[in-house]
Amino acid sequence: MSLKLWTHCSVATLQADAVQPYGLVADAALVVQGAQVLWVGPRAALPHDLEARCVVRHDAGGALITPGLIDCHTHLVYGGDRAQEFELRLQGASYEDIARSGGGIASTVAATRAATPQELTAQSTKRLQQLMAEGVTTVEIKSGYGLALAHERKCLQVARALGQAHAVDIRTTFLGAHALPPEFAGRADDYIAEVLRMLPVLHAEGLVDAVDAFCERIAFSPAQTARVFEAARALGLGVKLHAEQLSDSGGAALAAGFGASSCDHLEWLSEEGASAMAAAGSVAVLLPGAFYFLRETQLPPVDLLRRQGVPIAISTDSNPGSSPCTSLLLMLNMACTLFRLTPEEALAGVTRHAAQALGLRDRGVLAPGKRADFVLWDVQRPAQLAYALGANPAIQTIFKGEAR
Ligand code: NIG
Ligand code: FE
Repeated sequence: MSLKLWTHCSVATLQADAVQPYGLVADAALVVQGAQVLWVGPRAALPHDLEARCVVRHDAGGALITPGLIDCHTHLVYGGDRAQEFELRLQGASYEDIARSGGGIASTVAATRAATPQELTAQSTKRLQQLMAEGVTTVEIKSGYGLALAHERKCLQVARALGQAHAVDIRTTFLGAHALPPEFAGRADDYIAEVLRMLPVLHAEGLVDAVDAFCERIAFSPAQTARVFEAARALGLGVKLHAEQLSDSGGAALAAGFGASSCDHLEWLSEEGASAMAAAGSVAVLLPGAFYFLRETQLPPVDLLRRQGVPIAISTDSNPGSSPCTSLLLMLNMACTLFRLTPEEALAGVTRHAAQALGLRDRGVLAPGKRADFVLWDVQRPAQLAYALGANPAIQTIFKGEAR
């Protein structure tokens, strides 16, 4: 198999055990074999025989290279929008008020149910392409706006098809327990039973990579969440949770008890929740877009997460209600500005730790044997990726060893 070489670049490998911040290698060389990295390190240390075997040589023009970005928490496939709800919130209504009066997620459910797969694909493609333009190479997409078998299937099929149609890896998550659909009003336990009927069917159709739930006073209780997680476990599926977004329900500790790969949002996370996550190896996925857009004031406990050694990931949470956002770079900036992450923590949060949040060991860092998903950026220093607001310095993205 022919080898490809990139030189005239610096590489932020994001390797966990690196001595340099960001795992930065100045004047680097990167060798790719097929869809994998074969060698990365200082140009001067590149073995001559390896260099001689590189038949394709790229001058990166002084670019900074990072791993492909990973957006590990999105609700990218949905119908309609919630601009009208945005106007209501500007007039004083809260996100919870709107949800309780039948709007919020329920209004997106109605629009998503009414949309054809073609319409959903057309809307979602635009959002996916906006993410990809900023060097995103892996995207997690949740269902949860169908809330009935046919519509959950439709959304998951659209998500899978997006991955077939684009040079990007899509991981699907079944979020049937996202909200109570109107036909189950007042019967949350019955709806959970319905979720338990949907899950094995969708799983058997190859549409589910993981299972999520929304554990919150406006959504499902810890006991109901546990029923969903038991069902996931019985199928051998990994779990994750929307936890402690608006209140402390003890969701993070519950999810950690099921070995969750991640707990997400976490503004109201307790000390016990954080230590349970640390013990389970669960990643904390922080979502600055939702914090900002809902004008939350309760900050996620970043110092507690650091103290407990819980890895932190950052994601767009791209969705119509709490974070209508398709810029992962903007989330880097907001993670630093709003949550006081360092730019290095933020960049690890959209690479190494985002991969861990999805249970993916083959990406998120640049090292031999890892996937050759990487981005060439027109910046001198990695911190510039988190520093700029609204800029997109991506020059080129390589996905599985090929330019896209
Ligand atoms: O991650 N918290 C629950 N789910 C989404 C919001 C969904 C919506 O409002 O449409 C979130 O914030
Ligand atoms: Fe979410």
